[in-house]
Order: sequence, then C-alpha cells, then structure tokens
Amino acid sequence: MRYLCLIIAISLSSSAVFATEDMDAKLDNYRSAVGKLMKVLKPELVNAMKSKGPVAAIEVCNTKSPTMTNAVSQETGFVIQRTSLKPRNVSNTPDEWETKVLNQFEDRKAKGESPKKLEFYEIIENDGKRQIRYMKAIPTSKPCTICHGEMIPPPVQAKLKELYPADKAIGFKVGDLRGAFSIIDTITQ
Ligand code: HEC
Repeated sequence: MRYLCLIIAISLSSSAVFATEDMDAKLDNYRSAVGKLMKVLKPELVNAMKSKGPVAAIEVCNTKSPTMTNAVSQETGFVIQRTSLKPRNVSNTPDEWETKVLNQFEDRKAKGESPKKLEFYEIIENDGKRQIRYMKAIPTSKPCTICHGEMIPPPVQAKLKELYPADKAIGFKVGDLRGAFSIIDTITQ
C-alpha cells in the first residue's frame, strides 16, 4: 500500500509539472514581454510615419520589429515571434498550433470577446520536449491601416510589393485581428 502511494505520488508530481503559482509567474513574464514589445513597436512606428512618412516607416516593421523581438527573446530566454493567418512576411506563417489558436481567437472575437484581451496557453509535447506555448492577439488600430488596410496609398503599395511579393496582410479594418504574438518556452529538453 505504501509502495503504491509512492508510485502515485511520483506520477502525480511528474505529470503536474507546474503548480498553479509557477504557471501564474510564467504567464506574468509572457504578458510583460508582450506588453514591452507593444509599448516600443507602436510608438516607434507612429513616430517614423510622422517624421519620415509611411514608405520610410515600412523599414521599422521590416527590420526594427524583428530586431526588437529577438532582443526580448534573448533577454527572457523564451522565443517570441509575431504571426498571422494572413502574413506579410512568409517567415511569419503560423505553424499548426498557432493556426488553431488564431482561428480560436477569431471565433472568440465573433462571440463578443474583446480583441485586446484574447490570449491562450497550453503545455504541449514537441519532439520529446515539453513546451509552454502562449499567444496574445494583436488588434488592428487606425495607424495600422495605412500599411495593412483597404486603401493603402499607391507609393506604400509599390514598396510593399517590392519587399513582399507574397503579401497577404492587407484589407484589415480597425478592430480586426491583425495577428498575434506567439511565445515558445521550452521547459524540459
Ligand atoms: C509603415 C507600414 C506599416 C504599418 C503602419 C504597420 N505595419 Fe505591420 N507590418 C509591416 C511590414 C513591412 C511587415 C512585415 C515585417 C517583417 O518582415 O517581419 C509587417 C508585419 C506585421 C506583423 C507580423 C505578421 C506578418 O504579417 O508578417 C504584424 C502582427 C503587424 N505587422 C501588425 C501591425 C499592427 C498591429 C500595426 C499598427 C499598430 C502595424 N502592423 C502597422 C508594415 C507596417
């Protein structure tokens, strides 16, 4: 009986992996990394558009946002990326798990949830590694529509076409889901 209890205790502790408070701490880290990026990226973009115009501001999204995203990844130790069901950059194409969550966000939004608050996480097994995957939706606001909207100015369109011949990230309206931040945190190798 004692032996059995021990086995149950061991299997419980290994399958639980994360106590609720550990998961809460992880989620706090993810939210603050995403918050940090949002706080930097949007003003950077809006300032560049004001001072240099939207064509030059493309460079902010094109080079600066991947650089800033990588910097936050290095600082935190988990991978953080941007993705979308309609990506501009093909390297932001969602994987299977991200596609499932992006579709889930669209459903939840259609049922009335605020796009600003949509988030989801899951602990998954990938190639023998245990990972926490987390996503937070990115809504479309007014300044985004210059480069992602329905009436993109022709010089901006031309530059986007040149840089992203396979661009799908157009036709968005204010309030639509533009995409999401996606975090992969590997917790066991
Ligand atoms: C000046 C033009 C411009 C504006 C304004 C702009 N974007 Fe982008 N956006 C881009 C470019 C260029 C890319 C491709 C970046 C890359 O190569 O990774 C991009 C990519 C993205 C991506 C990554 C997924 C993808 O489609 O490849 C997201 C998410 C995104 N933008 C959201 C936004 C949001 C939200 C706003 C408004 C706050 C915004 N963008 C405003 C030009 C712009």
